[in-house]
This record gives sequence, structure tokens and C-alpha cells, in this order.
Amino acid sequence: MVRTKKVRTPLIAGNWKMHNAREQTRQLIGELKPLIDGLSDVEVCVCPPFTVLAVASETIGDAEISLGAQNVFWEEKGAWTSQISADMLLDVGCRYAILGHSETRGRFGKVDDLLAGRLHYFGERDDTINIKARVCLAKGLTPIICCGETIDERQAGKTDDIISSQIRACLDGLTPDQIETLVIAYEPVWAIGTGEVCGSDEANRVCRLIRQTVRDNFGTDAGNGVRILYGGSMNDKNAEELLEQSEIDGGLIGGAALKADSFATICKAASFAAWNFYI
Ligand code: 13P
Repeated sequence: MVRTKKVRTPLIAGNWKMHNAREQTRQLIGELKPLIDGLSDVEVCVCPPFTVLAVASETIGDAEISLGAQNVFWEEKGAWTSQISADMLLDVGCRYAILGHSETRGRFGKVDDLLAGRLHYFGERDDTINIKARVCLAKGLTPIICCGETIDERQAGKTDDIISSQIRACLDGLTPDQIETLVIAYEPVWAIGTGEVCGSDEANRVCRLIRQTVRDNFGTDAGNGVRILYGGSMNDKNAEELLEQSEIDGGLIGGAALKADSFATICKAASFAAWNFYI
């Protein structure tokens, strides 16, 4: 049996969304630490709400867990009520920032139903994601840029066009060196929080399309280096099959990141999937 390590180190990032106050944050990270202690060949990250980033950072201490935020604003400081800058995130210990999650892009349409199309959830768009990515990279925060199609787009056969245009627009103007370091998450909107996971072959196919789009527009090194995660109903049962796909370099996990044991099981599956085995 021969083992060779894959080129890209897998990343498992837990997107806690709007869950966990200080006490639950201490508890969840406290439970997670021993479960992933000594785990090699995988990078583990948690992305709690802004209000508990400081508590999360303290609780992580010197454990091998990276901290990420769920959003960032592009201005440095000033009269921007409600917004959080990259410097503030770095100050509290963040290494990553999730950008353009479908829940901030407003692609569910629920608010459309309520307000007859006048308002999206938070108005995030490819061009605002692009500005945020530029600022993050300039400041030393690594963006996790989300893309994904809705069920209507998929059923209309538009998945590939939607995904490649999101990728081109979100990465516009970045250098190949910058792109090599960042993370893209493919999160089909219909698979988020629904329990309806995208099949591993199809998830791998779309991740390959993303990588090829990066290669075509920004060069081979950028395409080979960028880490591409899958997100959408990934859990401790289906993680192994998804993570062993050649183009999937990790996961962006929602619900299953809220329990230490299920999140740790996914981290272990990624650690195992970091290796190729040959007879
Ligand atoms: P679920 O894992 O709950 O489907 O959420 C995925 C997600 O949106 C991660 O960003």
C-alpha cells in the first residue's frame, strides 16, 4: 500500500450562523478541542457570530482551531452603523471571513414574498463580495467566497452558467497569487439546511467546473492552489463520501457544526481524505 498526500490541505469550517451565546460557545469549543486534538492533515475552523468571536478566541487558546467571521465590511472605520471591519476581525483573532453566503445574498426569496420584491435579505451581490475579498486579502484575512445556484436555476439547466459567472465576478481583479491562497465554497442553495445533500459526483463535477473557471481566467497555479469546499447538508454520515472526491477540499458545515461530536467526525473524515491510497 502506497500513500501520497493530496496537494491541498483540507479545510473544515463550521458556520454557526445565528447560534450560540457565550456559554454555549465555551461549551462547544471546549468539547471540540479534545476530540480533534492531534488530528493531522486537516485545518479546522469555526465561524461563530460576531458577538462571541472574542469568547471563541479565548476558549480556543493555543488549540489548532482557526477562527473565522461570517461577514466583513470593506471600509476601515467610520460612520458605518452595524458594520465590522477587517481590522476588527483580525484584532479578535480571525483568520477567515465568509463572504457571499446565500443567506446574505438574499437568494431564498422569502423577503421577496413579504415585501413584493423590494428588498432582499442583506443585498449581497457578486460585486460587493468582490470588494470585500479585495479588502480581506489586502489586510491578511482569507476570504471563504460562497457561490451556488437556486433550485429554479438548477431545474432550468443554468447551474454551470450561474456558478462560473459568480466565480468570475467575485474574483475579478484579484491576482493569481491572491487566488491561490483563498477558499471558495460551493453551496447549492437548495441543499442548505434542507437535509437534501448534493450527490458526491455532482458536487465534485461543479467543484471541478469552479477550478477550471479559475484556471481559465487566472492561470493554472491559481486553479491548482485554490481550495474548494462543499457546503449544504454535509454531516457525519455523508462527509466521507463527499470529502474523498478529487476536487472537494473540505466542507463548510452548518447544522452539523453545532455539535462537537458530529463536527469532529467530519474533521476526521477530512484528515483521512487528505491522502491518496494505492495498492
Ligand atoms: P447546513 O450544513 O446546515 O446545510 O448549512 C450549510 C451552510 O450554509 C454552511 O455555510
